[in-house]
Amino acid sequence: MSCRKPDIYLRNLVAGTETKVALANGKYVTAINFDNAATTPPFCSVLKEIDQFSPWYASVHRGKGYKSILCSEQYEYSREVVRKFVNADNRDAIIFTKNTTESINLAAYALAATSGKQVVLSSDMEHLANDLPWRDKFITDYIALTKSGRLSIKDLEEKLKKYQGKVVLVTVTGASNVTGYINPINKIARLAHQYGAKILVDGAQWVPHMPVDMKPYNSPEHIDYLAFSAHKMYAPFGTGVLIGPREIFNNAVPVYQGGGAVGLVSHQLIEWDDPPAKYEAGTPNMMGIVALTAAIRTLNELQLCQVYQHERQLIGYVINGLAAINGIKLYSGGQDGEERVSLISFALEGLHHSQLAEILSQEAGIAVRDGLFCAHPYVTKLLNISAEEIEYYQTHDDKTIPGLTRISLGIYNNCKEIDVFLELMEHIAQYRQYYAKKYEYVLANDRQIRDYPYC
Ligand code: ALA
Repeated sequence: MSCRKPDIYLRNLVAGTETKVALANGKYVTAINFDNAATTPPFCSVLKEIDQFSPWYASVHRGKGYKSILCSEQYEYSREVVRKFVNADNRDAIIFTKNTTESINLAAYALAATSGKQVVLSSDMEHLANDLPWRDKFITDYIALTKSGRLSIKDLEEKLKKYQGKVVLVTVTGASNVTGYINPINKIARLAHQYGAKILVDGAQWVPHMPVDMKPYNSPEHIDYLAFSAHKMYAPFGTGVLIGPREIFNNAVPVYQGGGAVGLVSHQLIEWDDPPAKYEAGTPNMMGIVALTAAIRTLNELQLCQVYQHERQLIGYVINGLAAINGIKLYSGGQDGEERVSLISFALEGLHHSQLAEILSQEAGIAVRDGLFCAHPYVTKLLNISAEEIEYYQTHDDKTIPGLTRISLGIYNNCKEIDVFLELMEHIAQYRQYYAKKYEYVLANDRQIRDYPYC
């Protein structure tokens, strides 16, 4: 597969692409960030907006001052920017949270308080944020995986049938943070609705990479709940989003309670505000919202369908390069042309994932993530780890705990960076024993001290 030329325009959209970092040998190189699924660097447009908005910053919903009113109006307007971005219905509440994890937790509490049904179907592919919040509130069951680690739609339908109308929610990720697989959300929504259940989509790895359409309430493919994080879409400053029917949030008592979420309160009675305010107790994160809306503006200008195509081409280049290296095992299909977001997890035979991540960082300034990616059941299933083995690692402080190494790309990454990575990977694969010895300290849990000029 040929790769498109480095696109300086895309690179210049993001802050920090030319930052130098120290290597093990004391030299400095330009950092390569292949850990965008964990968090993305900020768009320059976001930083500019934060800077321009700062003189106007004041309290939201709490004052009559000019700036306070301006902030309150801007804050409310931002909900409409988000609504349009994912085509949410007017009957949905757009609730601002701090991240996807908080969003899904809030949804779980609201549903537990309002639903007469007992079962939630999560899946074996989920990030822990879309698994743990359901466990203590519902009977939780998991949609099984196919041999290639995709969601089994057949199993979903069997489970929906088995629970005979008792499933309140099917909750799945839009795209996996481990394999990059994109789930057939439209199909899953249709099935869930057919059996009287609602659908929640964890959009953390999905919304930043392709156009998302929640579709109208009367569509069988409507997405009932959507959660995502701004910090994975080039907008740090701590904002997340939860979207769902206002009616549900109206009927539930919120988890966080305090000023901003209420009307008049006496010792006898609490008059709750309407959602979304009811779910946003405390002073709202105005700067987080400014950042999120600026990032949405930039993503809209770029057009997410083009972002998807560009990133798809880049990850295809990584996949083909890795597949040609001796001893590499890719943990997802790897076929060119399949629907996926821009990340891939892999293992190099004979080298522990934490050593490999350390080598990439120390030898070339390449940042990747390794381990179980907060998706423990999924990764342990992909690696075929037995229940006994899992129990061993749960009860022993053993640094050899299995896992994978992950590359996750952003819009600003380019083929030159990928070539640096692939060249080093080839070298590591060829001289595995040398690297294993040099980096054996990683498994002994010793930390290499580097020079951190910023601190
Ligand atoms: N869920 C994020 C990741 O996969 C944190 O890195």
